[in-house]
Amino acid sequence: MQLHDKIFEVFIEAKELDFAIQNMANNIAADFKDDVLVFIGVLNGSFMVLTDLMKHYQYPCEVSFVKLSSYEGITSTNEVKQLIGLSESLEGRSVIIVEDIVDTGNTVEELKRIFKEQKVKHFKIATLFFKPEAYKKDIKLDYVGIRIPNKFIVGYGLDYNGLGRNLKSVYQLANTNTNNNMINIVLFGKPGAGKGTQAEFLKQKYNLTHLSTGDIFRFNIKNDTHLGKLAKSYIEKGDLVPDEVTIKMLEDEVEKNLDSKGFLFDGFPRTIAQADALDAFLKTKDWNVTATIALEADDEILVQRLLERGKTSGRADDQDVDKIRNRYQEYNEKTAPLMDYYKEQNKFYAVNGIGSVQEITEKLSTVIDIL
Ligand code: IMP
Ligand code: MG
Repeated sequence: MQLHDKIFEVFIEAKELDFAIQNMANNIAADFKDDVLVFIGVLNGSFMVLTDLMKHYQYPCEVSFVKLSSYEGITSTNEVKQLIGLSESLEGRSVIIVEDIVDTGNTVEELKRIFKEQKVKHFKIATLFFKPEAYKKDIKLDYVGIRIPNKFIVGYGLDYNGLGRNLKSVYQLANTNTNNNMINIVLFGKPGAGKGTQAEFLKQKYNLTHLSTGDIFRFNIKNDTHLGKLAKSYIEKGDLVPDEVTIKMLEDEVEKNLDSKGFLFDGFPRTIAQADALDAFLKTKDWNVTATIALEADDEILVQRLLERGKTSGRADDQDVDKIRNRYQEYNEKTAPLMDYYKEQNKFYAVNGIGSVQEITEKLSTVIDIL
């Protein structure tokens, strides 16, 4: 099934949705049937859930709606706006917020803030779908229909850029990309070797999805996610983040870009265990690592480059010579053996990383063009 540019496949059938909603209605009734509840649907997504929930909830209650929006395309914009507020007073009332899906939790946080001002008696949250891995808040969700992995879904009220809300079942992005024309490149290089700079050029030139574990970590740290807090404690010491955290995060990013022409892995894998995990994961998609390219440069030149970068980037891990050397030591101990791992598979290429940005891009392109 196609919506705009993307292909979707059935993920959860209508019957299963109905069963989950019936369960939610029963649980709500068990807690509140003696109260006259006010159910408040959060538009647009929750119109289907609320409709079916009401068919299963057969006790006196009221129904109302608010409209909020926090999404553009398939990634959360991290910003919640209230579009249409409440007209009636809810003071002293028991309120059940009805959501189609809770993702980061920005929306429920905003709702909680709004309803606190209303002096309601009870404030409960019911959501058909919940993505525990994406959730960043501590607010308890009182009634959850179905827990799902951190994947983009449509149907049953949920949309992809406006389309798909009227579908009776729920769909997920299909993996239509089983071709082996993909170019998946692993870029190696010590911190400061210019991986990030070169990756910018290569992703444009070859239409690749650039996945930098450093960038993904920093994004999570900046947004203070669970993963971010965890990663921060390691990065600040100059240590590597544990494999299982890194691998999970990276897989999530690949899952979000299943229609990609190829991936440029930057900063990953850094250990043999990670390389094994990456191979195993790519295999589940019928893909593989096409090549690994190392940007080689002398340690002393790199230390100077990093200290320069630290002056302007503000990155704590770039400002301290000991921490930098600690990262090089990690690299030599854990990452260097990886080169042998890929050499054995005839996938390893090395490029001299000293020279102008353009010269190095050209050398890298020469390697990629013959793959
Ligand atoms: P939150 O504020 O990040 O919890 O996001 C909640 C809103 O994001 C939902 O009401 C949806 O509009 C949208 N959303 C989150 N995940 C999905 C999805 O997988 N498909 C479609 N919309 C989604
Ligand atoms: Mg919604």
